[in-house]
Amino acid sequence: MNHPDAISPVRVFRPRSEEDRQWLLDLWKREWGGETMVSRGRVYRLEDVEAVIAAQGGAYAGAATFVILGDECELLSLNSLAEGIGIGTRLLQEVEDAAKQANVSRVTLITSNDNLKAMRFYQRRGYRFHAVRVGAIDEARKRKPSIPHLGLDGIPLHDEIEMRKAW
Ligand SMILES: CC(C)(COP(=O)(O)OP(=O)(O)OC[C@H]1O[C@@H](n2cnc3c(N)ncnc32)[C@H](O)[C@@H]1OP(=O)(O)O)[C@@H](O)C(=O)NCCC(=O)NCCS
Repeated sequence: MNHPDAISPVRVFRPRSEEDRQWLLDLWKREWGGETMVSRGRVYRLEDVEAVIAAQGGAYAGAATFVILGDECELLSLNSLAEGIGIGTRLLQEVEDAAKQANVSRVTLITSNDNLKAMRFYQRRGYRFHAVRVGAIDEARKRKPSIPHLGLDGIPLHDEIEMRKAW
């Protein structure tokens, strides 16, 4: 695929080809540091999760991955590669639609204390703070020393923030 651009319409779809799955795996590795995602003590491989991909002008432009567990949908990752043109919103909407289809009553997600852009983005879309796990990232760093000490905007990285949207 080519590079995303600001003019072509955005398409959102479920991964269907080997190329789609390989691109998702590369995205996880590049943006989230590995081939697995750890959330609330569970380890997920790509084949364990659901995903939606955004593409624009023949180029991959973003993705969300999530799991439906019991009465909730957990958003594991959300990435936009062409920010500020509605791709993150479209992907999040698609995840919420899938959650409603699955008859679960909420979406939960975890972000880090430095990610002010994400906290703004999610709150503007109906998400509320549910819990702050003080020191959770410091604990995780003891097992995985590659986790940096400084996060976005040079903010010290310490805590996990859980956000939820219920309906
Ligand atoms: C958070 C993130 C997913 C947002 O994605 P995005 O594609 O920039 O999101 P959108 O374009 O839908 O919306 C962002 C802003 O762009 C602007 N925007 C959206 N659509 C627009 C349009 N069609 N025209 C003009 N502006 C637009 C809006 O200002 C919007 O913010 P607001 O509505 O809350 O004020 C993205 O910044 C990202 O990938 N961050 C890195 C990874 C990350 O932190 N993920 C979340 C943590 S789990």
